[in-house]
Amino acid sequence: MKLTYFGHSCFLLETGKARLLLDPFLNGNPTSPIKAAQVKCDYVLLSHGHEDHSGDALEIAKRCNATLIANYEIAEYFGAKGAKTHGMNPGGGFNFPFGRVKLTLAHHTSSVEAGLHPVYLGVPCGLLISADGRNLYHAGDTALFLDMQLIGRAGLDAALIPIGDNFTMGPDDALTALDFLKPKVAVPIHYNTWPVIAQDGAAFAARAAQAGHTVRALTPGEALEL
Ligand code: NI
Ligand code: MN
Repeated sequence: MKLTYFGHSCFLLETGKARLLLDPFLNGNPTSPIKAAQVKCDYVLLSHGHEDHSGDALEIAKRCNATLIANYEIAEYFGAKGAKTHGMNPGGGFNFPFGRVKLTLAHHTSSVEAGLHPVYLGVPCGLLISADGRNLYHAGDTALFLDMQLIGRAGLDAALIPIGDNFTMGPDDALTALDFLKPKVAVPIHYNTWPVIAQDGAAFAARAAQAGHTVRALTPGEALEL
């Protein structure tokens, strides 16, 4: 399978059977190499509601007639706006035509339209995707948590983990997360989009290597074959 990074937490995962777009945030992302109108996909997967993960989800899902997979509240929210959806919740998995998706825990918040009257959209999740004989974990936005050890038991070919700090775990906690998850390769996400989450991806990769982990800090537009 081919994993292409579009900056922040957004990836296109191309399996043998389907194209999965994870956490689409393209038009509002200053680091994205593409715009939402250029994406073609069969499924849109969302870790949580925040617009830096769901910002382009509705437009893309409707244009591509893609199925939007997310927690129940997010699925109902975008379903009411016209998207084709499949709602799930943490701990639950489902066998789709391309493979299996299981939602995992994440420690964070989940809303849209934050301000006086935010719309809360269930709990934040991570995405555990099994396809083509590979297991890929997209951690979404999260703090470090000990139960990542359970997620690692799946045997991860790849883990996409936030290192930006401030809104999610930072590099120190992300290194501990790698000890828990033990992926064959990890890709740092959710950093360098704005000054508040500025981090050095290469320095993180070097520290991870010293601890025995393989980290690939992808530049937006770069792809990885898994
Ligand atoms: Ni968030
Ligand atoms: Mn975020």
